[in-house]
Amino acid sequence: MSEVVERWGSRRAFIIAVTGAAVGLGNIWRFPWMTGENGGAAFLLLYVVFLALLGLPVMVAEIMIGRAGRRTPMQALTFLARDVGKSRHWGLLGLFGGITLFLILSFYSVVSGWSIEYLVEAFTGGFASRTPQEIGSAFDNFLASPGLVLLNHSIFLFLTMAVVASGVGSGLERLNNLLMPLLYLLLILLVGYAFTTSGFTTALSWLFKPDMSALTLTAIFNAMGHAFFTLAVGAGALMAYGAYMPDDQSLPRAVITVAVLDVAVALLAGIAIFSIVFSQGMDPASGPGLMFVTLPIAFADLPGGALWLGCFFVLLLLATWTSSINLAEPMVAMLGSAGLTRPLGALIIGVGVWLMGLPSALSFSIWSDVRLFNDMALFDLATTLPIDIMLPIGGLLIAVFAVWVVEPPRAIAAIGAGERFYRVWRAVVRWISIPLLILVLLGFFLMK
Ligand code: TRP
Repeated sequence: MSEVVERWGSRRAFIIAVTGAAVGLGNIWRFPWMTGENGGAAFLLLYVVFLALLGLPVMVAEIMIGRAGRRTPMQALTFLARDVGKSRHWGLLGLFGGITLFLILSFYSVVSGWSIEYLVEAFTGGFASRTPQEIGSAFDNFLASPGLVLLNHSIFLFLTMAVVASGVGSGLERLNNLLMPLLYLLLILLVGYAFTTSGFTTALSWLFKPDMSALTLTAIFNAMGHAFFTLAVGAGALMAYGAYMPDDQSLPRAVITVAVLDVAVALLAGIAIFSIVFSQGMDPASGPGLMFVTLPIAFADLPGGALWLGCFFVLLLLATWTSSINLAEPMVAMLGSAGLTRPLGALIIGVGVWLMGLPSALSFSIWSDVRLFNDMALFDLATTLPIDIMLPIGGLLIAVFAVWVVEPPRAIAAIGAGERFYRVWRAVVRWISIPLLILVLLGFFLMK
């Protein structure tokens, strides 16, 4: 159980790697879907509050543990706990995180596969001169073809595991370096287009003028789960990246930078997508298909639209790729510390995730009638369980570990922002984040 010696090449490299993990389907696909389903501005406000009070403090906790332990998540937790005479069973929290990542990656790969299909469709002009109705039913028809959905799921998962098998190194950094600026550029162009549509002002007031009476209990759970999901926090994935963090870097500054970059992507995507929704008279609560239907409609309207749309899906795919590498890396590293080689570990995880992805992939076709717990479709279950339930539970335990198990001097050194910051952060985690998490989780279990 020795310390890792690798470090990210620079401070910037760490920030870029974490941003690459954070920015993905959560921002561009799930954020608009959730906001649409939960009534708009009130959900957005709640989500921002949860980001500030839960997401960010726990993100500091999680990376701090990785940096203090400098091992894979399970080993770091075991090592830090044992070192101060606490139970070595804390290591199980790393395992719980690994299972969460496994479940997330299983649907993540399926949905990223949808983007592969859309990329090909876009470049081959498949959406050109189609009406919005036709574009809408094309999405339903695609999801109803199990073979096609599985093929794309397989391709995406292969691409992810191939990178993880050969080690997450400088390739990831170069990819992110190129991708991020282009992604922002394209999103800003898209918002520029949204500005010219008739739905722009409606979209803005719908997104930013909260109507608190729209808030439901489900909206509260969704907002909390999404705050963790979008920051990639709560399952130890950032703990793994934190282990390679250089010594002379301030953690809070890095975390704030990532959060701002992350939220910006979601807001830009949200403004663009809802402008299209309102100018087309669509329903904001269109579910997981929202992004896949609105964007082809928007681009079909623009000169050279097919090409732009194709570029958009290329960027989206690269963004989800860097996220899924982050999801897979800790699992493969954990198998590695159990003695397996990287390629073998990647193969085992890849096969497991592929199988686990079947319910999500087939939820819209041959298993569309299956309903479990509270009448949930398989796809809803596959996304809700790991995001809205397991990530917050993992986050809660990570927070408890960070403020009660890790000793102050060690935590102060690993956060790298001085003692005063540590005290304020610890007070926030103890008196705000942890009680709030318990409250919302209890609410969830009592109301269900
Ligand atoms: N944050 C990513 C997104 O928004 C998903 C993700 C990547 C993630 N790594 C993670 C979520 C680790 C939870 C834990 O698409």
